[in-house]
Formats: sequence, structure tokens, C-alpha cells
Amino acid sequence: MMDETSIGGAPGGWVEMDRRHVWHPYTQMLAAPAPVPIARGEGAYLITGDGRRILDAISSWWVTLHGHCHPHIVSAIARQAAELEQVIFAGFTHQPAARLASELAGILPGDIDRVFYSDDGSTAVEIALKMCIGLWANRGERRGRFLALEDAYHGDTFGAMAVSERSVFTRQFSALLFDVTRLPFPADGEPEERFLTAAADELRKGDVAGVIVEPLILGAGGMRPWSPGALARLAALCRANGVPLIADEVMTGFGRTGTMFAVERAEIVPDIICLSKGLSGGFLPFAVTACRPWIYEAFLSDDRSRALFHGHSFTANPLGCAAALASLELFRTEPVMERIASIEAVHRERMAALAASGAVADARVLGTIAAFNLRSDTTGYLSNAAARIVRRGFERGFLLRPLGDVVYIMPPYCTSSHDLHRLHDFLADELSD
Ligand SMILES: Cc1ncc(COP(=O)(O)O)c(C=O)c1O
Repeated sequence: MMDETSIGGAPGGWVEMDRRHVWHPYTQMLAAPAPVPIARGEGAYLITGDGRRILDAISSWWVTLHGHCHPHIVSAIARQAAELEQVIFAGFTHQPAARLASELAGILPGDIDRVFYSDDGSTAVEIALKMCIGLWANRGERRGRFLALEDAYHGDTFGAMAVSERSVFTRQFSALLFDVTRLPFPADGEPEERFLTAAADELRKGDVAGVIVEPLILGAGGMRPWSPGALARLAALCRANGVPLIADEVMTGFGRTGTMFAVERAEIVPDIICLSKGLSGGFLPFAVTACRPWIYEAFLSDDRSRALFHGHSFTANPLGCAAALASLELFRTEPVMERIASIEAVHRERMAALAASGAVADARVLGTIAAFNLRSDTTGYLSNAAARIVRRGFERGFLLRPLGDVVYIMPPYCTSSHDLHRLHDFLADELSD
């Protein structure tokens, strides 16, 4: 365990160094409480500098799959670091990158079989957008218009912000974001016709470069599910019009919604798929944008200017590849899909009861994700409606980070049924009338 000086506000302690020098994400640095010092991770738990065990109910921003510091991934990264930690990926390759691409091609839907590596969810989205624009350019057409869902969130870089809904996340930058046509969100249980008619009308205009969606559930847009049927019909419209469909599975990929990839429930094969977060088991910043052959083939030419002009210093970083290979191995050697199903079963049982609370609106479950809205006068990301739940949850040892008035749980798959029930017990107590 760490002593007070090493964790603390004491002069020379690292928390003090953080206070003086670090700029944290999504944080109003003047008003935000001091960040919680975390010393270690262990399974579903984070252990604070002063030794408290906190259940990571949001998988540390939706990334941790099998648990913090899972020894199999730890040793895979260590072994890889001792062999090859990094190499330029233009003109060179290495075994972990080739093996991972081949394994992904084996589990991704349909004929998606070409993998472009990058670093995080936002870059995976940028690359998907560039694939679409480049595809049309290589065919001699200037197409740059994208269709995206209302309330979508696709990341924080400029292209990813552009296809995301204009919101508090993007407002300051809106003058610099390219225009995107929004499709009305086809909320689960509501008629899909308005959404499908809008998509069909826009696609018919013949100038759409691509359509991007978070399949089956909006993440940062409020954990709002939509139906596999609507997604399947959108995919059919894209196919009929020859327009690429991008599935942003940065959050939903690797079992989050109950199947390995969310698109499986709609029985569709997107043309491009973006993966990150859980790709490395949540250990390293790492991403892929994978596509079907017809996308890839549009870039093949004797003319070098028709290549995909994109690359990052750490493209296909061997440590990321090793972590991802180890994570995929765990899907084969541990009962991961059974764990996911058990989490969903507990969520369903407990959310059914929670839905009766007068404080709760719209309780919902999709795979390992359980969410509900608090009945409140304020809504949206800046709402403080859930502040009490966050504070009291933390006192009881639960890490929750609601999206404004939307409280959700998205635990690592190793979370025990006992711990999950404890968490639901806490929420039920807090919300009892
Ligand atoms: C659906 C989706 N796409 C893209 C991103 C961006 O990923 P990153 O934060 O790794 O850039 C996120 C992040 O939450 C996401 O949920």
C-alpha cells in the first residue's frame, strides 16, 4: 500500500504534482473536485491511493473487458515489450499485427477482411470517413456528405465531432465542422418510418459519401437503444444505393451488447467497422477500422496518389496488437460470453424492479449495459440530477459517471453476481420512493 506522502497532497507527493501540472479531460479545472488517486487495478476493482476498493461500474470509460490487470494480458504485453515494442508500419510489418488482422477477419461479420490500425475510437472514425471520401474520389466523384443519427457521438477529433450531434461537446468548434445530414433517431419501440424515409430520400440524391451509426445503442448520446430491424433496413438502403455504411462499434464491440458485435443482432454486414476501447481488453490506446473488399479495392491502383493517405506514428503498435490478441484468446479460454449473459440477466431482473420507482424513467437493458433516466427538471449532459447518486455511490465504493440525468452501469465482464447485486441494491435504495 502507498503511504500518505506518495499519494497525497503533501508537497512532493504525486497528487500535488497532478494538481500543479495536469489538465484533465472533460474537466472544468477551476471547479472540479480533486481527481481520485488510483494506485492499482484488480479485476472489477480500482484501488485508491489510500487503499479503498472501488467497483468500476463503468469499465473506466467503457474500455475494461476482462478486468483490470488481467494477468494473461499483462504477461502478453510484457513478453511483447521485451521482443519488439514499436516499429514503423509503412514498409514494415510484424507478427502480432498480421495475426491480429487475420483473427479479426475471422470473427468480424461477413467478408470484412481488411484492417487499418490506429490509436483510439476517434481516429478509427476519422479513418472510416476518409475511406468513404477516398473511395468516391478514386472513382472520380467528389462526395463529402455524410448521414448520421440525431444525438450521435463519434469522438472528439474534427471529423468525428462533425458527424457527432452538435452539443456541449462540439459547440465551441461548430464553425469549423463540416455539415452533416441528421437522420431522426429511431428510438426503440417507436415507428421507424420517419427515419427510413429520411434515409431513403437523402440516399436517393446521389451525393452521400457514407452513413455512420452507432449500432443498436447511442452511447454518450444517453445510452438509448434502437432496434436491429431499423438498422437492417438502413443497411439495405445503403446497399441499394451503393453507399458505404459505417458501424461505429467503438463502444458496442467485443460483447458489450450481448453479441460479439452489435451488428450481429441485425444480421447485417457493415461496409466499414470501427473498433477500439475493448479491442485491447482496455489495456492500451488502440483501434482498428476494418472494411469489406469493395472498399479496399477502390484504393488499389498504379497511381500512388490513390492510396489511403492516413497513418499515425504508432500505427499497429506491437504492444496494442499483443494485448488485443491476448484479449481475444480470453474470449476462447474463459467463459466470457456466459459472463456477459449472466450480467444481462441480473440487469434485467433488477431493472424491472427499479422501473417501478417514481424517480426513474425509461429503465433499459442491452447486454451488459443497464441505464435509466432520473426524473428531473434538468436534462442533458450538464444536468446535476445524478450528483447525489455519484457522491453516495462513491462513499459506498462504486464508481459511477452518469451522462447528466442518465445513470448507467457498464461493468467489466469479470464482475461477480454478488457485486452486481450490491450495486443494484445501492441504486434501488437510493431511488426508493
Ligand atoms: C461510439 C463511440 N465512437 C467513438 C468514440 C471515441 O473514442 P475515443 O474516446 O477512444 O477517441 C467513443 C468514445 O466514447 C464512442 O463511444
